[in-house]
Amino acid sequence: MRKILIVVGSGVQKGNTNQLAQAFEKGAQEAGHDVQRIVLSENIQGCQGCGACQKNSHQCVIQDSMQNYYALFEWADTIVLASPLYFWSISGRLKCFIDRLYAISQDDQYPYKETVLLMSAGDNHFWTFEQALSFYSFYTKALGWKDLGHVLAGGCESEPRYIPTQKLQEAYQKGLHL
Ligand SMILES: Cc1cc2nc3c(=O)[nH]c(=O)nc-3n(C[C@H](O)[C@H](O)[C@H](O)COP(=O)(O)O)c2cc1C
Repeated sequence: MRKILIVVGSGVQKGNTNQLAQAFEKGAQEAGHDVQRIVLSENIQGCQGCGACQKNSHQCVIQDSMQNYYALFEWADTIVLASPLYFWSISGRLKCFIDRLYAISQDDQYPYKETVLLMSAGDNHFWTFEQALSFYSFYTKALGWKDLGHVLAGGCESEPRYIPTQKLQEAYQKGLHL
């Protein structure tokens, strides 16, 4: 059974992305996996590139909510990155999370993980998620992680929040059959 950490890079607890993540979580729990989900709705700063972590036992000097997440990241064997599409990319919050993991890297090497990408967006063109997928592909390959696939939910609405039921079902199935 997997130890899964779902990282939701949206500030909106009841938003489309967290709903997608919760559908995935439901499927994964039903399959017997151990799942933790964090929503990056609190303050999370970007990496300031000071390099202190590399001289300081891999501890980041920035004291914010990220400090609560390092242990969860180390615990998990599977990382699910969930993000709204912001200007054709992942959200700033999720990028901050990713950048701050630099603290635990050793000689640019990261712990091995297997990963899934979940995303929501307003548009629903065939190219809507192209840039985000490209980033995810480069990122996972560079770190030597295994990509377990993705669920891309285009056609969402924000006022009020709406995510197609079919996409929630897809995320549930992804979690169930991971
Ligand atoms: C700052 C910002 C940028 C966005 N950029 C895009 C975009 O480039 N393409 C798109 O299709 N939707 C874009 N959206 C819409 C969101 O991706 C969409 O509403 C998403 O489902 C919101 O997720 P949430 O409910 O988890 O916040 C953007 C929304 C915001 C707030």
